[in-house]
Amino acid sequence: MNSTTEKAYAKINLSLDVGALRPDGYHEMDMVMQSVSLCDVVTLTLTDSDTVTCTSDRGDLPSDKSNLAVKAAYCFYEALGIPTQGLHIDIEKHIPVCAGTAGGSSDAAAVLRGLNRLFGEKFTLEKLMKLGEQVGSDVPYCVLGKTARATGRGEILETLTAMPSCHILLCKPNFPIATPALFRRIDEEREKRNLTSPDVNKMILALKNESLEDIAQSLGNMFYEVLEEKEKAIVENIGKSLVDFGALGAQMTGTGPTVFGIFPEENRAKLAMEALQKDHEEVFLAKTV
Ligand code: C5P
Repeated sequence: MNSTTEKAYAKINLSLDVGALRPDGYHEMDMVMQSVSLCDVVTLTLTDSDTVTCTSDRGDLPSDKSNLAVKAAYCFYEALGIPTQGLHIDIEKHIPVCAGTAGGSSDAAAVLRGLNRLFGEKFTLEKLMKLGEQVGSDVPYCVLGKTARATGRGEILETLTAMPSCHILLCKPNFPIATPALFRRIDEEREKRNLTSPDVNKMILALKNESLEDIAQSLGNMFYEVLEEKEKAIVENIGKSLVDFGALGAQMTGTGPTVFGIFPEENRAKLAMEALQKDHEEVFLAKTV
């Protein structure tokens, strides 16, 4: 076998709390993550060269380590203790870019899983997650997937009771987010005022009780708190539309700007999608995975 294809699922944050800045420059996190069916399709093909290349239907992506998928391949070879094997990574992109939905991290996780298959499943899932830590903070979760709590800088993972199956509508508004800058904004704001932490334990209890209503009522994201007023208004408007169309709750995912709504019924989610598409280019209907 010299080729394999992996699905790279997007994630949403049901709950996201940012803690203290650590001496290593990262922040302590407490997050509840959920994977959704919106996915990139990552095809790996071993080649006769000694380099890693990467293309995508969204234009060619860099073939150096600034591309997390490429970085993941080099980490894999290093851990396996073999010289770099020629590899071509092709990514069929569906997950929005810079959106708080872990597109890049998920592609990287798919490369780790796919290479592990191509090289005879030499590493356990735990080892692949550990390798993912070297690639990016969200990569270990993307290797694991499903419903999980992530603490530490995001690499300490605990699988939780699966979120009840439902429809997730995602809408990415058109303003840019820079992850390190948003973390800095949290540090600065925290010195001036009290930032409210979402109740992660309440979310975990809601999951345990398999109550979609309680899950929807427990959504929270500290990054939402520190958005600029204009950005906050845009996110709030999308959230309101989602709820008006029948979402049980809505929240921004990750560092944003994507907002998601939880729908028990697909027909209501579809109506919301049609309405949001009038004002927003990137609207996606997915299911929990
Ligand atoms: O680990 P990753 O490369 O995805 O992180 C990107 C940036 O996000 C880091 O350089 C850091 O500024 C910030 N970050 C953080 N705390 C975390 C995760 C990321 O401050 N737990």
